[in-house]
Amino acid sequence: MPSEFPPGPTEMGEGKWQNYLFYRKFFKNPLDYVTRWMETYGDVWHYKVGETHNYSVANPDMAYELFVRQSKIFIKGPAYTSRKSGLARFMGEGLVTSNGDFWKRQRRLVAPAFHAMRVHAYADTMVDYTLKRLAGWHDGAIVDVDDEMMELTLNIVARTLFDADASSTVSQVKRAVAVVQKANNTASILPHWIPTPLRLRSWRANEALDKIVYGFINERRKTGEDRGDLLSMLLLAEDADGERMTDLQARDEAVTLFLAGHETTANTLNWTWWLLAQHPDVEAKLHAELDSVLAGRAPKLEDLRSLPYTDMVIKEALRLMPAVWSVSRTASEDTEVCGYPMPRGTAAQIMIYLLHRHPEHWKQPKDFLPERWADPEIENRHKYAYVPFAAGPRICIGNSFAIMEANLLLATIAQRYQLRLLPGLEIKPAALITMYPRDGLPMRLEKRASCAAIAPEASPLH
Ligand code: HEM
Repeated sequence: MPSEFPPGPTEMGEGKWQNYLFYRKFFKNPLDYVTRWMETYGDVWHYKVGETHNYSVANPDMAYELFVRQSKIFIKGPAYTSRKSGLARFMGEGLVTSNGDFWKRQRRLVAPAFHAMRVHAYADTMVDYTLKRLAGWHDGAIVDVDDEMMELTLNIVARTLFDADASSTVSQVKRAVAVVQKANNTASILPHWIPTPLRLRSWRANEALDKIVYGFINERRKTGEDRGDLLSMLLLAEDADGERMTDLQARDEAVTLFLAGHETTANTLNWTWWLLAQHPDVEAKLHAELDSVLAGRAPKLEDLRSLPYTDMVIKEALRLMPAVWSVSRTASEDTEVCGYPMPRGTAAQIMIYLLHRHPEHWKQPKDFLPERWADPEIENRHKYAYVPFAAGPRICIGNSFAIMEANLLLATIAQRYQLRLLPGLEIKPAALITMYPRDGLPMRLEKRASCAAIAPEASPLH
């Protein structure tokens, strides 16, 4: 068992200035850096930034330790919780950014909105919104699929969790998400109160998010009605002492779910369309399944169990292009992980993207092969080599919501359209908090020939 720090890169240098200059380069293309470091150092490496020990981990045994066995020790660190430089600048003390008893209480409170029965009831809304969106598409049009998926998933999360209409907020939310991504991944050496252009944009983004979410909250408070959705849960739930959430706590939780609940699913679909367009054999199998099972009618929740290939396509897209490509944890006390020392304050980055492409755990790791999920051998793979939603107590609370949504949206759209990449246009991933198409995803819509067979009454909205 090792008892020393493993080797790792020294490119980040030692002083503040060197760090700063390095991270300016790093954030332009983190995937290239970490892929190269894994090739050089193996699936765990160590480096220091200032006095802080850092590990990057693409080893599933270590992922299990960090996410599950030592989850009490490995908590959310300043990258999440700092109100000066972390995600908490936007999400406050919501589920993603809180720790300890407060997080536990909030998670218990929000959990009922994500129970299977409740999530299943959202299926028809998801399909109806998709059909409504498709009514504006036509054969031969070039659309930015990224915009389409973001708008669709944003409207769905607003309707299902907040019973609200978010259609007028789309451009503000899009701008805010871009700022949140950048603000958390931009090297800076200036004190946090200096109003750099990015900070000014961050403050404005926060104001916009406040306005939207307080709009939902105030509207609901006016009626005091319990509509049984997440928003009512946030506003009406009482803890053991009969205390309700303050408006600020409800705001933090609502902003968290509003942001975490749409952008990740939209990017999962973005990458799915991108992969399908490059793999006509996979696309043909998907179409064959959709045509034979649905025979032209819009999918319903009950159809999902008869659409295994659709589910395999989503699983494989989440493996190859995980929307959350890396998460971090901070050691709250001195400990060891698989023999490596992790003194209090150590930051460990779990590289989901690299775990999902680890050559010791995946055959043909770089290939898009949905069929791998039907191979009985898949059951023998290391459970923590596939963690698109993280694992342990902090596993994504919206994972079944997201999987159901991605499957229903893929089925509804692929039934009717093929999405084609534009010749000569390379789509490059950016990897900040999430992994997304850096310059959008312009694609050409091609109405499927079999689409003529789709019953016009498939949707009341059509
Ligand atoms: C394909 C889509 C999604 C992916 C890939 C994804 C991935 C993740 C991951 C990896 C985490 C752990 C983050 C960390 O530990 O730092 C997480 C947490 C979380 N996700 Fe998701 N997510 C998705 C969809 C959703 C949806 C639809 C919702 C809500 C409607 C949601 C709400 C949350 C929340 C609230 C947390 C924090 C949970 C906690 O710490 O207790 N996510 N997600």
